[in-house]
Amino acid sequence: MSPSTLKVVLSLIIYTFTLVEITRAGDPDILTDFITPLTGPVDANFFTYTGFRVLVGPQSANPPPFKVLKASLVEFPSLNGQSVSYAALQFQPKSINPPHIHPRSAELLFVVQGSLQVGLIDTTNKLFTQNLQIGDMFIFPKGLVHFQHNVDEKVPALAISAFGSANAGTISLPNTLFNTTIDDTVLALAFKTNVSTIQTLKKGFAA
Ligand SMILES: *[C@@H]1O[C@H](CO)[C@@H](O)[C@H](O)[C@H]1NC(C)=O
Ligand SMILES: *[C@@H]1O[C@H](CO)[C@@H](O)[C@H](O)[C@H]1NC(C)=O
Repeated sequence: MSPSTLKVVLSLIIYTFTLVEITRAGDPDILTDFITPLTGPVDANFFTYTGFRVLVGPQSANPPPFKVLKASLVEFPSLNGQSVSYAALQFQPKSINPPHIHPRSAELLFVVQGSLQVGLIDTTNKLFTQNLQIGDMFIFPKGLVHFQHNVDEKVPALAISAFGSANAGTISLPNTLFNTTIDDTVLALAFKTNVSTIQTLKKGFAA
């Protein structure tokens, strides 16, 4: 085989493997139509989730600043093996969804009420921000740090997010760093500050 033919063959092999990897970039494929529960009958109710009805019902008089309602593997077990899930994000005025990561999926966010300022940071540390209006969508790529902020002082915001995993997972950066038992000295060195500053930050998360 000539060196140029070898090059072509090698490129083809690499290309094929890349394609296979891309098509595998979701939850593992299942070998049945759906995954049945260990107990209970499988009827239409198994494929139905009504946990989002509260979004259109009367709203709580004293809502938290930010609330997430999920329809993922835990809440809706029939999503197991289907590589999809939803979250409904409810923002009171001037509230945030703090910087976080979904390790297993991209997030496609759709603003259905109010407006949101959103941002993501790529692995070169470049920040991308946008002001979204009702009807707008934004994609947060898988595994990248991102956040949402309802800047409006009066109007609440509601967004629906779709995920390409039944269990996208969430790593909240503030919670992961300051609401676990990572040694204060490690955090002080990491954030180029002192232990008492770290302890002050940790206090904000204490129950
Ligand atoms: C820790 O750092 C803060 C902010 O720089 C400073 O105000 C404080 O005096 C420091 N505390 C100690 C114990 O060094
Ligand atoms: C801190 O962690 C505890 C235990 O995981 C959790 O219940 C609590 O909500 C967290 N606090 C905040 C402010 O996120």
